[in-house]
Formats: sequence, C-alpha cells, structure tokens
Amino acid sequence: MKKIKLGILISGRGSNMQALIKACQDQSFPAEIACVITNNGEAAGLKIAKQAGISAFVVEGRPLGTDKIHEILVQHKVDLVCLAGFMRILKADFLSKWHDKVINIHPSLLPSFKGLNAQEQALKAGVKITGCTVHYVTPEVDAGTIIVQAAVPVLPNDNIQSLSERILVEEHKCYVEAVRLIAAKIAN
Ligand code: GRF
Repeated sequence: MKKIKLGILISGRGSNMQALIKACQDQSFPAEIACVITNNGEAAGLKIAKQAGISAFVVEGRPLGTDKIHEILVQHKVDLVCLAGFMRILKADFLSKWHDKVINIHPSLLPSFKGLNAQEQALKAGVKITGCTVHYVTPEVDAGTIIVQAAVPVLPNDNIQSLSERILVEEHKCYVEAVRLIAAKIAN
C-alpha cells in the first residue's frame, strides 16, 4: 500500500496532531507524517513531534512565511497539508499552490459558529447539539467543502471547558477518518 505523506501545521497543544501520529503508527493506516511545521516555537505540540522523531520546523514571524512553509512541504513531498490548531490564516497565493490539498479541523458543526471560540459561540447560542468538522481550506475562513463531521450534545451544565473536552474527543476521531477517506481517494 502506498501511503500518502502528511504535513501538519500547528500553533499550540497539538492533540489533533498527536491523534494523527498515533493513527500513522498503525501499519495499515494509509498515511505517514512527513513533517510538522509551527509558527510558534513555544508550541507544546512541537515537543511532542520531536519526541516522536518527526522532522519539525519553526517558521515564526509576521507576515507568515508561507514561501518557507511551501518549500518545506515540497521538500518533504507532502501530499496533504493538515491544519491542526494552526492559528494563522493561509492566503489565496499559498492555497492556490495547494489546491484541494489543505484540510482543517474546526470545533463546531460548520457552517455554524465559524471563527474563534466556536464552543463559546455554541453555548451562547443555546444550541442543544454542536460538534466538529473537518473541511477543505479555502481563502474564506471555515467555508470549504465538508469532509467529516461528528455531533456532540450540549449538556445542561456544560461550560466552555467541559464542552470543548467532549468535542475534542470527537475531533481526534474525525481527523483520522478524514485522512483515511482522502488517502483512499488519492490512491484511486
Ligand atoms: C482544536 O479544538 C481545533 O478544532 C481548533 O483548535 C484546537 C486545536 O487543538 N482548530 P490541538 O492543538 O489539536 O490540541
């Protein structure tokens, strides 16, 4: 089986990256991690990536060094770019080079609650069900084609933390599932 190569972009904790690392450790999973890139040298996820023996790079600064990011991804022969808590917006010039090859995880059932603090937006709106979405990345934030979603009930006593924790459990499953689906599509 030919595995697709993932480039993962992170800014912080890196738990979705970690879920992908774990999935890729299974020989039968159709993907492998080629590199991890972060815009934040202090990201906890950077340590996790290094400990897992993954090539990891820091590209800091504003504006975001997308030429450098592009170069690293090309050097590592990346097939699919996975944004996993990457807190910078990728603009059209970068995305046009990676058309339909960049995906993101968002902690709501898109198209509801786009942007920052999606869990808090859901609580404030009083919805009874929220969830998470893996979607293709387009220049318009959180608006690309949906790949996988999971629903999570909002419980009467939920706060931002408790709701976020339950959504996160589903995020990890959805991200792995989305990569599996895309790998199957690329292989065929
Ligand atoms: C996740 O909730 C993800 O949906 C959002 O940012 C958070 C990243 O968490 N885009 P982690 O760094 O993967 O733990």
